[in-house]
Amino acid sequence: MTIKNLVTAPIAGQKPGTSGLRKKTAVFQSPHFLENYVQSIFDGIGGVAGKRFVIGGDGRFFNRQAIDVILRMAAANGVAECIVGRDGLLSTPAASHLIRLNGTNGGLILSASHNPGGPNADFGLKFNGANGGPASEAVTEEIYACTQNIEAYKILEAPTVDLSVEATTTLGDMTVTVIDPVSDYAELMESLFDFDAIRAMFEGGFRMVFDSMLAVTGPYAKEIFETRLGAKHGTVINGEPSHDFGGGHPDPNPIWARELMAIMQSDTPPDFGAASDGDGDRNMITGPHRYVSPSDSLAILADLAHLAPAYKGGLAGVARSMPTSCAVDRVAAAKGMESFETPTGWKFFGNLLDAGRVTLCGEESAGTGSDHVREKDGLWAVLLWLNIFAATGKSMDQILADHYATYGRTYYSRHDFEAVETENANALMDALRAKLPDLAGQEVNGLRVQAADEFAYDDPVDGSRSERQGLRILFEGGARAIFRLSGTDTEGATLRVYLERLETAKNKLKADPQKALANVIASAETLAEIKAHTGRAAPDVIT
Ligand code: G1P
Ligand code: ZN
Repeated sequence: MTIKNLVTAPIAGQKPGTSGLRKKTAVFQSPHFLENYVQSIFDGIGGVAGKRFVIGGDGRFFNRQAIDVILRMAAANGVAECIVGRDGLLSTPAASHLIRLNGTNGGLILSASHNPGGPNADFGLKFNGANGGPASEAVTEEIYACTQNIEAYKILEAPTVDLSVEATTTLGDMTVTVIDPVSDYAELMESLFDFDAIRAMFEGGFRMVFDSMLAVTGPYAKEIFETRLGAKHGTVINGEPSHDFGGGHPDPNPIWARELMAIMQSDTPPDFGAASDGDGDRNMITGPHRYVSPSDSLAILADLAHLAPAYKGGLAGVARSMPTSCAVDRVAAAKGMESFETPTGWKFFGNLLDAGRVTLCGEESAGTGSDHVREKDGLWAVLLWLNIFAATGKSMDQILADHYATYGRTYYSRHDFEAVETENANALMDALRAKLPDLAGQEVNGLRVQAADEFAYDDPVDGSRSERQGLRILFEGGARAIFRLSGTDTEGATLRVYLERLETAKNKLKADPQKALANVIASAETLAEIKAHTGRAAPDVIT
């Protein structure tokens, strides 16, 4: 086996976004693209000789081939050991856990999350550090700098490693340890929650449907819900991981999790319905005839987490990304907990979790998690909900009604305008940015602007500053309209408009969110002139 040192040249467009590098699969497959990026990761983190890494992905098209390249490059660059999920599979939260459990120097996770997969769809790769979390901005900047200066990469010429059996083998001088992707993660979940109480609840007839969306969580969900917790066979639907997620978007929202939504809207819905995304870090929560907004779910979990064994001592604090609704802040205030507002992306929670400042955190984009790993965790959120059902004996309707009665209801919605011409999206943001200084005090569609700014974040742990993190328009009475451009899309630009309003009147807590938000939606259009800039009459996706 020989180590090859191959000459290459920088390839444009290798700047990591909100969550690693995401591109069309064909781009990742183009000559040297993957190799350049992997070498840049290795160099950008200060070299990998003698280090240990966890490697796995969500199983999408090109996962297996990409892992083969990564392993051969790792061996050529002197890595001591790679721990790889069987068949190259690992959910993102499981990878985070394995990094922490095995004390490795980090991991490489292959996923484009909720984006579709396949030869004509998307692929992604990201580096997580030794704490198990996505690399900080400082590290991704280093990696990006390496992509711009790369001259060569190292790769071992060797046959493909068999990843289909759990075994320890070698590749050159590197140890390759193939492990069961599920068991360590399932053990962790069992250590956090009251599995006996949840099992008893299922025995008592509690019914759930969990939609794995033909993505990575199928084997995890079957093992945890059906085998360990005794939920009836068939509780997990779409549980076979597929290379292209059956041609759909593995995105757990009411649009893409259609099958689950139909079950929950049926005449005899189960007590609880949930779904997770391509790589298992997102969750969708529903009840009979009810969709629970991720922001509400975060607030309710923050309020009731103490009912699960892992959190019985209470939470140190909570954090939410800026566009996530303020519902969780109200819970934190009532409980006297610290709450933090961070930029979009899980990497910004890492420092707060590491420093013990927060126990729970979440994003409006169906991401919720705690200090048990350093990624958001879809199955964890579902298990915490199950633990709450088991501990309270209440239905979803009762839990929501109690929450709204205590804290008010934060009506919330996100409107996405996808594949907008990048120039037009930038023009919209520039025009709105220019207006911000004069907005305070103005009345727009019946709402008075209290403040308007571009969000910047000063990390309270390491003092770093992240600027240009979204345009915020705050109205009197707690309504907000937030604008930002996606950092995970692979085609043109995606404009995200986040809308919310607090309602406390007891007789107005059951409205349709789009109706309850009509004024805020109209104000967003008035202020940003979305139609004029994008040519779109309506959003592509409403969540
Ligand atoms: C999106 C979500 C964000 C999430 C990220 C990775 O990023 O909005 O909350 O952390 O995916 O899952 P965006 O495309 O908005 O940059
Ligand atoms: Zn994901």
